[in-house]
Amino acid sequence: MKGLILSGGRGTRLRPLTHTSAKQLVPIANKPILFYGIEALVQAGIKHIGIIVGDTKKEIMEAVGDGSQWGVRVTYIEQEAPLGLAHAVLTAEEFIGQEHFVMYLGDNLIINGVTEFVAEFEQNQSHSQILLAKVPEPEQFGVAQLKDGKVVRLVEKPKTHISDFALVGVYMFDRHIFEAARAISPSWRNELEITDAIQYLIDKGYEVRSHIIDGWWKDTGKLEDMLEANRIILDTMERRVAGSVDSDSRVEGRVVIEPGAEIVNSLIRGPAIIGPKTKIINSFIGPFTSINYEVVVKGSELEHSIILENSSLIDIGGKIVDSLVGKNVQIARSVLRPCAYRFMVGDNSRVGIL
Ligand code: G1P
Repeated sequence: MKGLILSGGRGTRLRPLTHTSAKQLVPIANKPILFYGIEALVQAGIKHIGIIVGDTKKEIMEAVGDGSQWGVRVTYIEQEAPLGLAHAVLTAEEFIGQEHFVMYLGDNLIINGVTEFVAEFEQNQSHSQILLAKVPEPEQFGVAQLKDGKVVRLVEKPKTHISDFALVGVYMFDRHIFEAARAISPSWRNELEITDAIQYLIDKGYEVRSHIIDGWWKDTGKLEDMLEANRIILDTMERRVAGSVDSDSRVEGRVVIEPGAEIVNSLIRGPAIIGPKTKIINSFIGPFTSINYEVVVKGSELEHSIILENSSLIDIGGKIVDSLVGKNVQIARSVLRPCAYRFMVGDNSRVGIL
């Protein structure tokens, strides 16, 4: 059984971060989203993973390498254009060969992993197994209609409500999916939809099993999803204080302070993670906050936010909440006259002021 992770998407809903970085590498609790997917496959016993890459190939390869950090073999497969998930499957045909495989969308996060589902698929020897989750806005996903517990119809982003069940971004297939992907036509968004390919399998009488998952799952395309994923993952972490905390500081609850981090005259209230060599001075870091490495937070308060590496937040008057701050960003109280806001903000940024 092989693994196939799709990591080619552009991440338009996360601009400006994705102008310079792949969306699959945005960290959740200081670890790239993509790594959670790799770990889920490794945990399920998969030894060889193909990663489909597109425009952001270089950074994905730099971050993941040859897979040896997880004891797994990684092969990169280039998809020349984002022409859909079923197109990506076709691109990987040679890599997959005659094996069964798990396809995992690189921006998806499933809190309990996929081990149980992979084992079930291997045991049943069906042609495909899909995962479904009950969601509040199914129209944003591929949606499955069930009859007597069996999937009868799949529709990608339906215009009207047909079911509460969304297709989770983890699919299991045998080689019949290649026949299906070749048989379908592009959708209205000009993509070969995996949803249509699975519908083909159903129509042809191939066995497509479904499994409704009850654990937490997220397709992390937007800021709000990132913050929610960050919340859920931070909540699973154990307290670990390796960095230095001075006697004027307090560290409350489940907090990870990485080696080389310094906490000076500050209150850190978990769940939160402070990355290596980050300095927190005269500040309050509230629950559900992930601060990556070599960040400086001074004279500021923040909560429910994600701050990426090498940024600094200095003497901010109000509290920062619900925020995602990219790499190398400087936000500081201005001392220049006239007393005014001064921005140099990238395209597609969002700034909320008091
Ligand atoms: C894709 C699939 C969709 C599925 C979703 C899960 O959507 O096409 O069926 O429900 O992933 O993350 P996309 O991310 O392409 O909009």
